[in-house]
Amino acid sequence: MNINIDKFPENFLWGGAVAANQCEGAWNVGGKGISTSDVTTAGALGVPREFTDGILEGKYYPSHEAIDFYHRYKEDIALFAEMGFKCFRTSIAWTRIFPQGDELEPNEEGLKYYDDLFDECLKNGIEPIVTISHYEMPYGLVEKYGSWRDRRLVDFYVNYCNVIFNRYKNKVKHWMTFNEINVITLHPFMSAGIKIKENEKKEQVVYQAAHHQFIASAKAVKLGHEINPDFKIGCMLLYPLAYAETCNPDDVLAANNFMNRHYFFSDVQAKGRYPQYMKQYFKKNNIEIKMEDKDEEILKEGTVDFIGFSYYMTFVVSGENNGKKLTGGNMMKGIKNPYLKASDWGWQVDPVGFRISLNNLYNRYEIPLFCVENGFGAVDTIEEDGSINDDYRIDYLKQHISEMKKAITIDGVEMIGYTPWGCIDLISAGTGEMKKRYGFIYVDKDNEGNGTLERRRKKSFYWYKKVIESNGEIL
Ligand code: BG6
Repeated sequence: MNINIDKFPENFLWGGAVAANQCEGAWNVGGKGISTSDVTTAGALGVPREFTDGILEGKYYPSHEAIDFYHRYKEDIALFAEMGFKCFRTSIAWTRIFPQGDELEPNEEGLKYYDDLFDECLKNGIEPIVTISHYEMPYGLVEKYGSWRDRRLVDFYVNYCNVIFNRYKNKVKHWMTFNEINVITLHPFMSAGIKIKENEKKEQVVYQAAHHQFIASAKAVKLGHEINPDFKIGCMLLYPLAYAETCNPDDVLAANNFMNRHYFFSDVQAKGRYPQYMKQYFKKNNIEIKMEDKDEEILKEGTVDFIGFSYYMTFVVSGENNGKKLTGGNMMKGIKNPYLKASDWGWQVDPVGFRISLNNLYNRYEIPLFCVENGFGAVDTIEEDGSINDDYRIDYLKQHISEMKKAITIDGVEMIGYTPWGCIDLISAGTGEMKKRYGFIYVDKDNEGNGTLERRRKKSFYWYKKVIESNGEIL
């Protein structure tokens, strides 16, 4: 409880976040299998990424090399340590451990890679924070089983968790089961390897697949606690705070309904049961979730220890969306908010919305929050003297940290830590671009895959170092 706290807690985990498929590269090295991200081409703003059937000649797949973190992690972790990171969030590429997904025995070379990576973090005083599946999974499971539509995926996932929990039980404490689990309804392939067939009812398919993920996640939480009672295992939600366009009750109702479609995921994972509003929604929309006898018990026994979430921007919702001017956003579009400025990709910058979000989430669940993604995607320019003066990024982060501090010290929200997204430039998940950069560290690579991959400290690198050094006092 944060009564009488006027500062960030002493043990607050400052750090940065990445995901394996967006930074590691080395897509076919060390016995790694093909993942869903390995068959995803590059797109651009307004040009959707393609999900090809296998790897096709002549197509560009940005995950194949990414920023080659796989080979350069020592150099990169040294830079994170220089900034004073207390933690580093990354994900394990499932296909390094189980190349096809349904093998009985894991790939030792993949396990050894993460041993070395986590040891390197720990050696530098950095706690690894691990997402178990971040927008990638074995493509073999897609081809053979149709991915998460098939309940057998639960066993494959739990087996994968069993292996990594046992292997890293003395190196990793904080885990998250599925990155932005609620994105399954928006981008079923990127999120969960699901391709919707013609004549199929999308909602039926994705909500059934989500049920399988809930069961897998709950089983993993229970298993993890048995393997190491000190484990803290969280969910990970894309938190899309939505405002009603006006005080017209129809707009307010629409915004509430919009939020419920997303709260559904954290409600199941944190409360351990399906909420009534969603049971009702399924009934009204003829969606039938097939459950097994023990499922309710499994969900109840596998509730998460903390709420991991991403926050970048806010949305505006109206009861009548037709003809409204839309703007870009994280994984979906929304109505333009006249009170907010937006990034070049149309994401509306809203620091106060961050404080509201922290309050909403904490008041709803009353378990600790971990903001594991936040940040500003922008084009950076290298000056003649080699410097990169990313004041716009500093400005964004400064305002968000300042609102987070208010949520902690004034509102009493309990938080574990804060890991800005893409602490080193990496491949954008939404567009597959390189030029949409979030990092404190610049990586020399362009959208077509050219560049030396050389790393360079940006102005924000020195700024964030001071933030961490002062435990958030100097912004
Ligand atoms: C989150 C994802 O939605 O947003 C990340 O978890 C992603 O994987 C991040 O990279 C930023 O989105 P984008 O599209 O700018 O890369």
